[in-house]
Amino acid sequence: MKILAIESSCDETAAAVVEDGRTVLSNIVASQIDEHKLYGGVVPEIASRRHAENISGVVEEALSASGCTMDDIDAVAVTYAPGLIGALLVGVSFAKGLAFAYNKPLVAVHHIAGHIAANYISHPELEPPYLCLVVSGGHSHLVEVKTHTEFRVIGRTRDDAAGECFDKVARTLGYPYPGGKHIDEESTKGDKNAYKFPHPKLSGCEYDFSFSGIKTAVINLMHNSEQRGEPINKSDVAASFQKTVCDILAQKLMLAAENLGYTDIAVAGGVSANTGIRDKISRECKKRGYKLYMPQFKYCGDNAAMIGAQGYYDFVSGKRADESLNAVATLSLEDI
Ligand code: KG4
Ligand code: ZN
Repeated sequence: MKILAIESSCDETAAAVVEDGRTVLSNIVASQIDEHKLYGGVVPEIASRRHAENISGVVEEALSASGCTMDDIDAVAVTYAPGLIGALLVGVSFAKGLAFAYNKPLVAVHHIAGHIAANYISHPELEPPYLCLVVSGGHSHLVEVKTHTEFRVIGRTRDDAAGECFDKVARTLGYPYPGGKHIDEESTKGDKNAYKFPHPKLSGCEYDFSFSGIKTAVINLMHNSEQRGEPINKSDVAASFQKTVCDILAQKLMLAAENLGYTDIAVAGGVSANTGIRDKISRECKKRGYKLYMPQFKYCGDNAAMIGAQGYYDFVSGKRADESLNAVATLSLEDI
């Protein structure tokens, strides 16, 4: 069955046609990053306007690139939560209109479930249950994927998301938004043991994360050296920061896998494109004989193919939305 999927939760207007949850027939992403870059981050009002301008063309392009017309489409899937409310509303309204006009079923997809489902595209053999680390610009979660449509969040960030921390540190080092990939590139030139940044000590849930202390430590290091007029090697700072984040993410993921008995492990979200994270988690999984699933780079960041993949499993499990569907800015993966 073919699903037309729409994603507009942040700063990418995206549409895709996905067959049976695993085969991507088209995947169109119109990024607004160049405009938001001027402001150092996503401006919600601008995001909504650009989505409204782009969505019709992006959906048309996704259909034509897939060689399909609306007659070939079995259902329309759309991201309805979580995200920027005005941005989500554009996708939700457009999807509702399309489903209503062409008399197609409508499926409402949770954005984080979509990130996780990106792995089904890249790994046709992957089936739940497995443990997934979801790291994006807005979220850092450790998730037990019980079935394709049932999730248990066992760990989350207490403050900044991993991607947010990468972006803030990147800004301090002078890189444009979004800075995660610049830190990644810079890291390859630096010494990852040059600086020691703190591993946060958290009471309570042993799978929770905290990134604000590391971010503050990097900012303080940069400001202090600037005030003293001491030169600082940006590559060393980037590499040391990235190593600290990678070590923490890998350590929590391995701890949860050992305690809960998972041997199938996945990563997802924009930050899962980070080469240090992919490398560190690959090595840790290999040591323990775990099987690791990672999305292809093009499916790590926001896209609609992942929404089409999850939309398929939501559809098959009987989930349907109607014309009363609304966008939701904040919604736990466990409450869908
Ligand atoms: O999943 P995503 O596209 O959007 C959200 O749902 O938030 O994630 C975007 C985040 C940004 O913070 C971006 O800097 C980060 O993913 N990112 C990276 C890399 N590529 C993207 N962070 C670290 N290393 C990368 N290579
Ligand atoms: Zn995302």
